Amino acid sequence: MRKNIVAGNWKMNKTLQEGIELAKELNEVLSADKPNCDVVICTPFIHLACVTPVVNKEIIGVGAENCADKASGAYTGEVSAAMVASTGAQYVILGHSERRAYYHETVEILDEKVKLALANGLKPIFCIGEVLEEREQGKQNEVVKAQLASVFSLNEGEFGNIVLAYEPVWAIGTGKTATPEQAQEMHAYIRSLVAERYCKAVADNTSILYGGSCKPSNAKELFANPDVDGGLIGGASLKAADFKGIIDAFK
Ligand code: PGA
Repeated sequence: MRKNIVAGNWKMNKTLQEGIELAKELNEVLSADKPNCDVVICTPFIHLACVTPVVNKEIIGVGAENCADKASGAYTGEVSAAMVASTGAQYVILGHSERRAYYHETVEILDEKVKLALANGLKPIFCIGEVLEEREQGKQNEVVKAQLASVFSLNEGEFGNIVLAYEPVWAIGTGKTATPEQAQEMHAYIRSLVAERYCKAVADNTSILYGGSCKPSNAKELFANPDVDGGLIGGASLKAADFKGIIDAFK
């Protein structure tokens, strides 16, 4: 059966020293009071090699926020999936709406990133979600279905390593959370698409996280929905107490 997961997305926050401090603090509080779900922290590239040794990997997984769409070579400034994996990281966020919007990541680019992540043993946390205008026009299902093409090209075995994250763009960093009903409705739809593409057993095994202004005060009602298997947390993952508050929603 699928896992419940709470994953943090630090985005472009924290110096190396601050990041190590946060990882240590989180490791301490979660070692003292064990979580009832999988916990992952996705950090900037430069933090990875320093963060993986300070966390107990039985309790906290580590991931990158992106990786290159090329395996290696003359791509100045890029970081490959193999490099990410060599730090001890196990996950990588791919397809985040900020990457799609600000860095023009297309479906073709994301296809390459997903393949390279899997080839290097990383589990992609693959993000999908509509912008406000699309929701207002009632196009959210269509948009999400099209975005899923990047992972639906995988075979069943490969898809088994994918974690999905539904993040309505209008809810990210805005303080506007999807209602539990809106989240459940979309998550159930996404799961039905997975069942249609693969089969019901695969759909039942797929973790689908909600992301977008998730915080300790709303996590419980969001995660209580049958098709919401945890969260991808931005702002509230930057303080150990807030992140732990969200993790405790599974207690
Ligand atoms: P937020 O970000 O929790 O700050 O809204 C979520 C995300 O972008 O993953």
